[in-house]
Amino acid sequence: MGVPTRSPTHRDLDLTKLASLGMEVEELADGEPVDTGALVDLAAERGKPVSHYLAGLALASEVEQVTQHPVNLVVCAGKCQSWGALDVLDRATDLWERRRDQGLPLFDVTVRSCLDRCEHAAVCELRGPDGTAVMTETTARQVEDALTAILG
Ligand code: FES
Repeated sequence: MGVPTRSPTHRDLDLTKLASLGMEVEELADGEPVDTGALVDLAAERGKPVSHYLAGLALASEVEQVTQHPVNLVVCAGKCQSWGALDVLDRATDLWERRRDQGLPLFDVTVRSCLDRCEHAAVCELRGPDGTAVMTETTARQVEDALTAILG
C-alpha cells in the first residue's frame, strides 16, 4: 500500500483521540447501525467536528453505517487524513446540514479506513444512481462541487 510522494498537507488524529471518539460513536450506536444525521447531531451536541466522529467510526469502532439516500459519498478516513480527508468530511457534512435545513434532497456520508488508492490521497467515491465516480487527490472544494452537481 503506497503513500503519495507529496508531503503531507494535514495532521492525522492521534490514536488515543480516535479510540475515545470511536467509543463515543459505539455508545451512540448502541449496537445498531448509524446514519449521517445521527453523527451530525452528536458532533453538534458535543461541540466537536463531525469529521472526528467519522474518523473514529472508521478507524476505532465496529459500528456499521446505514445509507438512506440515492447518493453516497464514501470517504477514506485512514492515512488520507494526512492529505485533507478530514476537511473533505467537514465540508461534506456542512453541506449536508445546510441542505437539511433548506429541505433539499440529502445524501449519505460514509467512511472507510482505506479505498485502495493511497498513493493518490485524498480519495473518495461518489456513488449515485448512474454509477461511481472515484475522486483522487481531491479537496474539500472539489467534493462539495461534485456533490452539488450530482444533487442539483
Ligand atoms: S489510506 Fe488508502 S486510500 Fe486512503
